[in-house]
Amino acid sequence: MNGDDPRIELSGERRQVTALFYDIVGSTEMLERSDPEDFSNIVSVFHRTAMAIIQENNGYLHQELGDGGCSYFGYPMQFEDAAEKAVRAALALVERCGRPRKGREPGVKLRVGVATGMVVISADGREIIGTAPVLAARLQAEAHPNSIFVSDSTYQLTRGSFEYGFIKHARLKGFSEPVPLWQVSGTRSGQDRFSISRRPEAPLQGRSAELGVLRRAWGKACSGRGHSLVIVGDGGIGKSRLVAELRREIGMNNSGEERVLQCHLRLTNRPLHPLLNYLETLLGSEALIERDASAFCDRLAAIGISVSKEIARPLVAFAAAKTRQATGYLQSSDKSARRFREQVIAAAAELLFVFADSKPQLLVFEDVHWADSMTSELIDRLSEGCRNRAMLIVATSRRLAAGNDDRERFSTTVRLSGLTAGAMTDLLVSLWKGPLPAGLAQFILDKSDGVPLFAEELAMFLQRRAAAGTTAADWNNLLNKSGITSLNDLLSARLSDVGNTRRTAQLASVIGREFGMSFLTRLLGPEKAVDNTDAELTELVAHGILETKTSAQGTIYRFRHSLLQEAAYASLLRTDCRQMHTRIAGLLTGGESTGMAHELAAWHCAQAGMHLDAAAYATKAAEACMIRSAMSEADTLLTMAEEQLARVSKRQKKTELQLDVLELRGVVSAALSGEGSQQTRRIYERALSIYRKQGGGDPGRRFALYWGWWFTAPNVTAQRARAQTLLNDMGEAQDPEVRLQSFHCAWATNFNAAQHEFCLSCVAKGLELYDAGRALRNRTIYGGHDAKVCGLGEKALSLSFMEDLPGSERAIKACLSAAEETDHVGSLLHALYYAVVQGRCQGRHDDVLRLTNRMKDLADRHSMAASRAKADMFGGWAEALSGSFEAGIRRFHEGLGLQEKIGTDDNISIQLDMQSELLERAGLRAEALNALERGVAESVKGGQFFWLPELYRRRAKLRAADGANPAATRRDLKRAYDMAFKQGAFALAKRAQSDLRDLEAGSTAR
Ligand SMILES: Nc1ncnc2c1ncn2[C@@H]1O[C@H](COP(=O)(O)OP(=O)(O)O)[C@@H](O)[C@H]1O
Ligand SMILES: [Mg+2]
Repeated sequence: MNGDDPRIELSGERRQVTALFYDIVGSTEMLERSDPEDFSNIVSVFHRTAMAIIQENNGYLHQELGDGGCSYFGYPMQFEDAAEKAVRAALALVERCGRPRKGREPGVKLRVGVATGMVVISADGREIIGTAPVLAARLQAEAHPNSIFVSDSTYQLTRGSFEYGFIKHARLKGFSEPVPLWQVSGTRSGQDRFSISRRPEAPLQGRSAELGVLRRAWGKACSGRGHSLVIVGDGGIGKSRLVAELRREIGMNNSGEERVLQCHLRLTNRPLHPLLNYLETLLGSEALIERDASAFCDRLAAIGISVSKEIARPLVAFAAAKTRQATGYLQSSDKSARRFREQVIAAAAELLFVFADSKPQLLVFEDVHWADSMTSELIDRLSEGCRNRAMLIVATSRRLAAGNDDRERFSTTVRLSGLTAGAMTDLLVSLWKGPLPAGLAQFILDKSDGVPLFAEELAMFLQRRAAAGTTAADWNNLLNKSGITSLNDLLSARLSDVGNTRRTAQLASVIGREFGMSFLTRLLGPEKAVDNTDAELTELVAHGILETKTSAQGTIYRFRHSLLQEAAYASLLRTDCRQMHTRIAGLLTGGESTGMAHELAAWHCAQAGMHLDAAAYATKAAEACMIRSAMSEADTLLTMAEEQLARVSKRQKKTELQLDVLELRGVVSAALSGEGSQQTRRIYERALSIYRKQGGGDPGRRFALYWGWWFTAPNVTAQRARAQTLLNDMGEAQDPEVRLQSFHCAWATNFNAAQHEFCLSCVAKGLELYDAGRALRNRTIYGGHDAKVCGLGEKALSLSFMEDLPGSERAIKACLSAAEETDHVGSLLHALYYAVVQGRCQGRHDDVLRLTNRMKDLADRHSMAASRAKADMFGGWAEALSGSFEAGIRRFHEGLGLQEKIGTDDNISIQLDMQSELLERAGLRAEALNALERGVAESVKGGQFFWLPELYRRRAKLRAADGANPAATRRDLKRAYDMAFKQGAFALAKRAQSDLRDLEAGSTAR
């Protein structure tokens, strides 16, 4: 073994093993005292004995080292009780090697060290690398003569079976923290390994067909034809057990690696929690929060997995991005969140695929009925991608998710129903101490419906009651007397049977299905000594209520079944329950680091009646979801936050938090139900009225609310009023960026309203405040484009309407080049759109065609549907009028269709005008007129006036062509002229004027 030789080929596997190191005490003195031949004899007998003991306990002698050796348990063959086997072997070593030889000579004294942990095994099996062997060697060196020192991990795994004494915390070479030393003093008495309460895993009964399906799927996966499979059935029916059987087989014949990703009831709103928890367990909790992709890669490399930074980066960024500081304001128009989400899912899938490069992988997603939406997407992606890889994906679920898609998510569905009578009898025989009473199997089958967890619990219940009787009537009586009608009752009864330790189980159940000893002791602090808790946990493990698992953070306790945890929780007195939640909330709000997920923290605070804290945690969790574009989870959390806020007493200050919640709600609602939806608008209106009523403070802090309020205004008229409020309120804002953004709102709205002079002055004032550095982030937030690009584009349009053509040309050039400089797609598309509109308004078909082609390419490459729709409408219009009419019309309609689908008609007046022009060209004059009428009506109604004079002018001409009398035509044209003139839109006024002249000249045709 070699702990730090970097040259070793690490492409082997990783798994948990227990290392056992042993060495003869004082061998040099022995050599000095005895004849060299005798000595070598002693040593070789010793080696033979040691080898035999190790093999008897299913261990593997890796190497003899002088007068000692190192061996492993759990490798090459995997055993669930490998640590226990190792300690047994250690005890046997000390005992048997210490026996006097040839009746007289004293035996040898040994020092033994045992440690459990993850190791990497080189491809050829010769090198085993990890802390377990290093620690075992150090423990061996520390051990007293004829004693066995074990690591904390080994102690935790085996303390139900052996007696231990705590020696001390020792500083050991190579370990930065002091390491606890435990000495084994013997086997634990009174613990029959096969006693029913200890609950060893009973052999699997029945399920041969289902196991066959799993085995075949695994076989196929091993040959590179990956597969995904879901096991569906009620809680306790045996889903996890079935998977465990396959996992055990894979371990036994070493045909691949298995990983379990667990979904949690209280974390269904935490994006990707099963994978993140898994990585934490694998690499330690700091691995992901370091925010450093190369550190993450290094940690993976240390356990033999090499992934690229491209894979690591999004994952680390995802895990780390937690707070508002990291993200700034959010807006739904920011498509980058959605892209980020997709990137993260892709990276997560790639990471898991990398595992499959070296060994076939069994990837288990446990309890996907609690999966969050990103995890569901990840599973879909894995199911797709595993088809040509050595990977089997198995999900377990209490129900088949609704919807058609879900039926197709997995290639195979395995439905579990109750065990058959035969299998049930076998299960009971294997569990029951002594001969099974006649009729019991049938009785239990009837009661339990074949659900194995129910059957197990019922059998244990009856067996614990010595006086249970022998007939179904007796058993029924007993159940009735004890008030047991359901599995839940049975589980609670079992908790009662463990006596005083029950309370510890109940209190622990408040934390969740899994918990660490140190967190529990912190919670129990006031009422219990650490030693007691420790002993009680051991007892609960012995009774099969809890089980342990090791992780990079140490030992974790876990309720053996989630139903057990639920039963323990349900059986807690309400006052106790609330008190525990209050203690947990106290730890959380007291600023202690608990590493607890915010969604869970929110739940604890809510249960503790600390509603303001609960709302604050839910809000934080929601924000974290939003950054990850997990909008429906965010929505649920924000609803929770609002519910909690509603329960906050009047005296408490909650307005700030309420505004935070509404601010996030606006973004989520816009993403889920559309920016223009009533719901979104109401949220902003409510938020702003709360804020403006409250008054005080720098309004710039709440700019996001203002922006949302402005953005969701129902029409241009309302938007203009809101823009004015923004300018007024933000005039006092300290942050220049906020003032710039309020000008941004104002110029956009005022251009629409044909207030060209005002638009230009807003652009001029706003751009003075422009800061390229700040723009970097804000362009993804406010409108999805750069403010400078927008200002210059709007300027180009206003100048064009005002007939300053050279000025307009300069502005559009500056706009395009500013956009190129940003290298930001949203800004580039925005600039191109201004150039297109400018070309359209000036009737330059060729330019429009050229520009829209570029726009289309860019939009397609970046999946920007709204821009694609615009490119097609304007491009189609230009093509129809200057090139191929048919092709142009087709393109225009494609664009229109897409726009209707995504619902972004922000330029309705020009759009209907183009449509009418095309209809007119097609000879459909009535329809053309109709489109214009609609255009006029919509523009007037909404307050979009910049193109209205043009609509009036064209309507007048169409009506004239239809035979309207010249006086009416003149009136319409005059109206167009007056309006344009008043707007300062001289370009449009000129057109109306020229038409009027033509009319005077007696010719209306053109
Ligand atoms: N076929 C079986 N043979 C023996 N024991 C079983 C079988 N199926 C389930 N069990 C036992 O029943 C209990 C519940 O099973 P589990 O797999 O945890 O249920 P699920 O995952 O469906 O909720 C466990 O103790 C398990 O060992
Ligand atoms: Mg399960």
